[in-house]
Amino acid sequence: MTDSSEFKMDYNYLGRTGLQVSNLCLGTMTFGQSSFQGGLPGQCDEELSHQILNRYVELGGNFIDTADIYSLGNSESIIGNWLKQQQRDKYILATKVFFWRVNPDINRQGLTRRHIVQSIEESLERLQTDYVDLYQMHCWDNATPIRETLLTFNDLIRCGKIRHAGCSNVTGWQLQQIVDLNRELNLNPFISLQQQYSLATRYDEFESFNVCKLNGIAVLPWSALKGGALSGKYKRGERPVAGRIGWVAQDEAQRGNQTFPSWDKLEGSDKIWNTIWKLEEIGKAKGKSVAQVAIRWLLQRDIVSSVIIGVRNLKQLNDNAVASSGWKLTKEEMQELNDVSMPEIPYPYEQIWRQNDYKNNKYLPSYFVDDMTD
Ligand SMILES: NC(=O)c1ccc[n+]([C@@H]2O[C@H](COP(=O)([O-])OP(=O)(O)OC[C@H]3O[C@@H](n4cnc5c(N)ncnc54)[C@H](OP(=O)(O)O)[C@@H]3O)[C@@H](O)[C@H]2O)c1
Repeated sequence: MTDSSEFKMDYNYLGRTGLQVSNLCLGTMTFGQSSFQGGLPGQCDEELSHQILNRYVELGGNFIDTADIYSLGNSESIIGNWLKQQQRDKYILATKVFFWRVNPDINRQGLTRRHIVQSIEESLERLQTDYVDLYQMHCWDNATPIRETLLTFNDLIRCGKIRHAGCSNVTGWQLQQIVDLNRELNLNPFISLQQQYSLATRYDEFESFNVCKLNGIAVLPWSALKGGALSGKYKRGERPVAGRIGWVAQDEAQRGNQTFPSWDKLEGSDKIWNTIWKLEEIGKAKGKSVAQVAIRWLLQRDIVSSVIIGVRNLKQLNDNAVASSGWKLTKEEMQELNDVSMPEIPYPYEQIWRQNDYKNNKYLPSYFVDDMTD
């Protein structure tokens, strides 16, 4: 893609808010020096990060996702330095709170009222703005009563520091508890769920996405390419030495976890390779890249408002952007991708689907998560 005047991203409503966001959100975990021991590869300095932001806007994007923890605050600072040269109200800006590893302090983490209030003040300072559009709890906190967290988020909405609240990395019952308690206490509802979701990770179709569907909560998938594995650039049997998938974390706890999948786990999975081969086949037939087809599959899931893309250069951004607009996967192509990537369905989901969809003799997760192929 060279001439951006011919190309503009499509827009969707962000859940039930009435806010319109580009269907690709720019993830900024790659901005600034990595916060991980040994340094995650593929980080962008400030100059390249600003080029990526400028190009994203040129392509029609208006939705930017960051977090206090990304590059230990530097991702927010880099965005802030860019934002001050922009018209602030053109952008839907999202950040998160939970983890904080600068000047470790036992009370500088999690979702206590104390930590949330301190964190939003610091995020706003780094972002050089007086509000964020979407403030997300980055993970469920087992230690803090969820009531305290929800009341605090609501107070931040009331005093104008955040426009909306959302969450990330929660289970189905936790999300339902958030929905119910917000309703019971007459607080502003959470509007979005940011969850790892791709053709390689579909577990949330069993539970959380049904809560989203029933309550109009926007799903914002992260790791749409499973850290780059679904870009088609890796070949089975050829261990990568570069890039995110080739990275081996120094910290053992970080090795091969769900956020940073290890090559060994990926390489051993027939399902992932069969999925990549299917993506290649469909991509070839349609003249699209593997990454574009993988992202397009997410965009055609009816619960998804915007897919968070992560890039480390302009080439990757230009590639991924093509998924946004101007073409679609057919119903048959969606079905082929659903089938090849189908996770094993655990009890009791399998039994419930089988019993409830006996008429169609079809007991797939897509019984709940529909393909929007109109
Ligand atoms: N809520 C959460 O807990 C959470 C967790 C993680 C991320 N996120 C958000 O989601 C965003 C995206 O996550 P992610 O980085 O894991 O996404 P991803 O799309 O799965 O992986 C991005 C990486 O894949 C490679 N890549 C991307 N496009 C490519 C292309 N077209 N061709 C070849 N390689 C390509 C690049 O790494 P290499 O070039 O190094 O291979 C890039 O850094 C983050 O920036 C962040 O905003 C949220």
